[in-house]
Amino acid sequence: MTLIDEIKRRRTFAIISHPDAGKTTLTEKLLLYGGAIHLAGSIKSRKTQRHAVSDWMEIEKQRGISVTSSVLQFDYDGCRINILDTPGHQDFSEDTYRTLMAVDSAVMIIDAAKGVEAQTKKLFKVCRERHIPIFTFVNKLDRYGKIPLDLMDELENVLGIRAYPMNWPIGIDGKYLGVYDREKNRVELFAEDTTHGQKERVSEIFASDDPELVKRIGQENFDALQEDLMLLDEAGETFDKAKIDAGELTPTFFGSAMTNFGVQNFLEEYLRLAPPPAPRLSDDGIIEPEDEKFSAFVFKIQANMNPAHRDRLAFIRICSGKFERNMNVWHAPSDKLIKLAQPQQFLAQDRQIIDEAFPGDIVGLFDPGIFGIGDTITDVNHKFKFEDFPTFPPEKFARVQAKDTMKRKQFAKGIEQLTQEGAIQLFNQVGAGTESYVVGTVGTLQFEVLQYRLKSEYNVDVLLTMLPFEVARWLKFSDGTKVTPASLRGADRGMFVLDRDENPVLLLENEWSLGWITDNNPKLEMNATPYR
Ligand code: G4P
Repeated sequence: MTLIDEIKRRRTFAIISHPDAGKTTLTEKLLLYGGAIHLAGSIKSRKTQRHAVSDWMEIEKQRGISVTSSVLQFDYDGCRINILDTPGHQDFSEDTYRTLMAVDSAVMIIDAAKGVEAQTKKLFKVCRERHIPIFTFVNKLDRYGKIPLDLMDELENVLGIRAYPMNWPIGIDGKYLGVYDREKNRVELFAEDTTHGQKERVSEIFASDDPELVKRIGQENFDALQEDLMLLDEAGETFDKAKIDAGELTPTFFGSAMTNFGVQNFLEEYLRLAPPPAPRLSDDGIIEPEDEKFSAFVFKIQANMNPAHRDRLAFIRICSGKFERNMNVWHAPSDKLIKLAQPQQFLAQDRQIIDEAFPGDIVGLFDPGIFGIGDTITDVNHKFKFEDFPTFPPEKFARVQAKDTMKRKQFAKGIEQLTQEGAIQLFNQVGAGTESYVVGTVGTLQFEVLQYRLKSEYNVDVLLTMLPFEVARWLKFSDGTKVTPASLRGADRGMFVLDRDENPVLLLENEWSLGWITDNNPKLEMNATPYR
């Protein structure tokens, strides 16, 4: 297969949803239809542990699909599918943003009974900003929910995206019999689910004017369908591929991941409409995936994936050219040549050493500590840098120190590692010594994760004291003089700290304090993220 063929058959996406909408279940069913697993249900419920810290790693692992494995790869109908897992917890993290940087499209799951929920809105916004195509799967149609027309309105009103229903459920709420496929103008009726969703659902296809169809679904359901379809044709959106590609129109599917209702149809249509790997912006112009010269960027770093080996993996998304094991590449930030040995790909917990990979693929590289989030690696004969990753201002802060001062060394090592992974941001309070650190995060859950990981991976119990700050500002004086606690008026209204590069940062409680500092330091410039 040529490089172009390999690119064309790849689909790299993430599933975004509010917790409980059915991300895990749908992922599992896609694997089932892809033949990657043979019986669904191997992914156990994590209900009891849902909001616990351990959910983040341990429990996810037990369920078979792990957030730490980052990517699932399987084939369906000639396509190679890469599903990137986004963390399933409530707390929104930078990790999720970064994962969304590495995909070409997103699948948004909506719980039919709950409609558009808070987390979905946030994740949707990130996808929207990247202008990537978004496909919607309205899930849990096997039980009572909002009516489909209202859900369409909700997508438009709450998210501001126009929706084009690709299929339409037939029957009444909670007892749908099948779906009408608008593209193919035919009906798929599903047999009873007798396997509790463990196996593919049996279905029958009917032409929309087949007299047998009326007999099967009843005149009332048939009439209701005609009425809905007329409404959709008259008042609804028209199908427009260009708008889908631009992320302005979301093709919408109805189904039930649990009972495999509409799952296959969704998968097939998704693969048909979703884009292959897209070009990327760099400081040397647009990089096309078909470019023969290899390039990739690091979007995630994960330490200690395997507790038996203290390893660290950097996950790269390939953007152009062909990846080969043991190839030498140029690492942009260090301006060094490095050899990519032992690259890995994943299905659930199984790692495989791979020999080659193509644009759209995700590869895990052993990282001896050289990689950082957002790093570009390229062919040695075409050096450039992809556009910067967005950084997010920390909003929660805590002071952390080891309970047992004898364990300071492990503590420092653990903190350092987690900082490199991008899980936390590290600060030093000026004059506070090195016994403790000030840690900043985007959400509070990261603190739990921090405590948990320091304990389980470094055997360090930490003392964590939340600090009352919610705003961080990187500081600089317009005349170039150094900002110090002494030269800043009102430094004691917050906490004056230095980031890892010794840049001055002020932590403040609220916008009001921020206003005071602005008013009283005319030369001061402030930024919510580090100055570059
Ligand atoms: P998440 O990853 O988005 O958080 O959701 P997950 O797939 O874990 O699903 C959350 C709950 O919703 C699970 O129930 C799951 O079985 C259920 N679910 C998923 N898809 C459907 C569907 O199409 N129909 C119905 N009725 N339920 C669905 P649970 O009670 O938390 O776990 P379990 O005991 O069922 O495993």
